[in-house]
Amino acid sequence: MTRKITVRPVNYSYDELIARAFISPDQSNIDHVRSVMQSSVETLIKYLSSANEKPLLPSDLSYTFDFPLLNDHPKTVSEIQNSLELLLSQSMNANSPYYVGHMDSMPTLFSIVGDMIASGINNNMFCLELSPFLTQLEYQIAKEFCTLFGYGSGAGGIVLGGGTLANLQALIVARNNALGSATGKLASVDKELVIFCSAMAHVSVKKSAMIMGMGVDNVIAIPVDFEGHMDISLLENAVRDAIQAGKLPMAVVATAGTTVSGNIDPIAPIAKLCVAHDIWLHVDAIWGGGLIVSERHKHKLCGIEMANSITFNPQKWMMVAKTCSLVLFKDFQNFDNHFRIKKDYVRENDIAVDLSELSVPGTKRADVLKLWLSIQSMGIRGYESYVDHTMEIAGHFAQHVEARPTLKMAYPMETAMTCIRSEPMGDESNHDVWNADLQGYLLSKRNTFMSLPTFNGRKSLRVILLNPFLTKDVIDNIFEYIDEFTSE
Ligand SMILES: Cc1ncc(COP(=O)(O)O)c(C=O)c1O
Repeated sequence: MTRKITVRPVNYSYDELIARAFISPDQSNIDHVRSVMQSSVETLIKYLSSANEKPLLPSDLSYTFDFPLLNDHPKTVSEIQNSLELLLSQSMNANSPYYVGHMDSMPTLFSIVGDMIASGINNNMFCLELSPFLTQLEYQIAKEFCTLFGYGSGAGGIVLGGGTLANLQALIVARNNALGSATGKLASVDKELVIFCSAMAHVSVKKSAMIMGMGVDNVIAIPVDFEGHMDISLLENAVRDAIQAGKLPMAVVATAGTTVSGNIDPIAPIAKLCVAHDIWLHVDAIWGGGLIVSERHKHKLCGIEMANSITFNPQKWMMVAKTCSLVLFKDFQNFDNHFRIKKDYVRENDIAVDLSELSVPGTKRADVLKLWLSIQSMGIRGYESYVDHTMEIAGHFAQHVEARPTLKMAYPMETAMTCIRSEPMGDESNHDVWNADLQGYLLSKRNTFMSLPTFNGRKSLRVILLNPFLTKDVIDNIFEYIDEFTSE
C-alpha cells in the first residue's frame, strides 16, 4: 500500500505551520519559541535532577510502539512533550551514581548547553566557511590536547564522533604511511599487512582492519600477562615471526585502558620496540587517556608521547556528552600527506584547516563546542580533582573486593574501572549463572547497575566508577547489596 502524502496541513495555514516549527528570524514567534524551549528544558531538568529516584533501566528493554511514528498531521506541543516524557521513562538513566556498568555517565552541564547551541546554530564542521569559529576552535583545541599528551609543536588532530571512528582514522593513516602514500592501491601490495594489539584491545581495531580490507585475521592478538598488560616479549616474538613470514607490520596498537578491565599496556617498552622495527605505534587511550590531567596518575601513560597517534574520548572520562572523540597525530604534516583529499568546490582558505579534507566524515557536528565549554567550566585542574576523586573511589572499591574471599578482581585496578566475579563455594560450573543472577538482583532489587560481559570466557561484573557524585558511602552500599545476595 502506498502511504498518503499530505501536501498541506489540515489544521494550520502554511504560515502557522512554519511559525510553530521554526524560530522566526524576525522575532515574530518569540513567545511560542520561549514557551517550547523553557518547558522542554524544564522537563529535562526535572528528569536529570531526580535521577536517584528513577529506575536505571526500564523493566522491559523492548518497548513496542503501538502507534504510527510518521504522523501525517502536526501534533500539538503538549502531545510532543508527552512523547518526550515517554522517551525519558524508557531511557537508560546513567545519571545515578548507582549506574556503574558502562563508560557512559552523566554529561557535564555545559556539554548539554553546548549541544543545544551547536544544534541551534547548525554550523557544519565541513570547512571554514561553514563554521568559521568552530573549525579553528577544533584545530586549536586538538593542538592543545597534543601538548597535554606530551607531543611537540608539529602535532595536531581532529575531533570525531566516537572512538571507533577515531581508531579507524588513525589506522588508515598508519596504513597509508606504511605503504608510502595514500594514492597507491592496496591490491598492488605484495606483502600482507598486519596489526598487533593485545588480546584485550577494543573490537574497533578488528573493525578497522575489516574496513581497510586487511581482514580481521591480520590483527594479531598478543596475550596479556597476569596484570592484563600486553606481554611485551610475546609481542616481540610475534613481530619477528611476521617479518620472517614476509608480512608487513603496519601498526602496533597499545591500549591505555582496556574496555573490560581498564588496564594499561606498557607503552614505553612497546614504543621502543616500534622504533626498533620502524612500526607505527597507535595508542588507544579512548578510556585511560583521562589520566593525563592527573599529576598523581599520569605516569601510568608514560611513553604515550612516543606514539605516532593517540585516540582519546572526552565523552568518557571527561564526561562530555556523546559524541566527542579526539584523534591526535605526532606529526600533523605526515597525517595531512597521508590522508587529505582535496576538494575544489568551496573557497580555498589560507590557514590550511579544512576539516572535511582531513577526516572520514564530511559533514560533522560541532562536538568540539561542548568539549570547550566543559573545559571552561571545570578547568584542567578541576578535571584533575575529578579524575583523582574517581581513582580514590576505585581504590575503596578494590579494598571491598579484597576483603571478600568470594569476590575476584580480573586484574589489578589501574584506572577507575575493573571487572569482578563472584565465586562462592560449590560447583564452579554454576558461577556464570550465579553472576548473572547477582547482576539481575542488583538491578531489580537495588537499582544498581553493573554490566555483565563474558570475560576470559566467564561471566563477570564490569564496574566503571566515573560518576562524579560517587562517594565511599555509595560503594559501601553496593557491597552491602552484594553481601545481601550472597547470604540469601
Ligand atoms: C579502549 C576502547 N577503544 C575504543 C572504543 C570505541 O569507542 P566508541 O564506543 O566511542 O566508538 C572503546 C569503547 O568503549 C574502548 O573502550
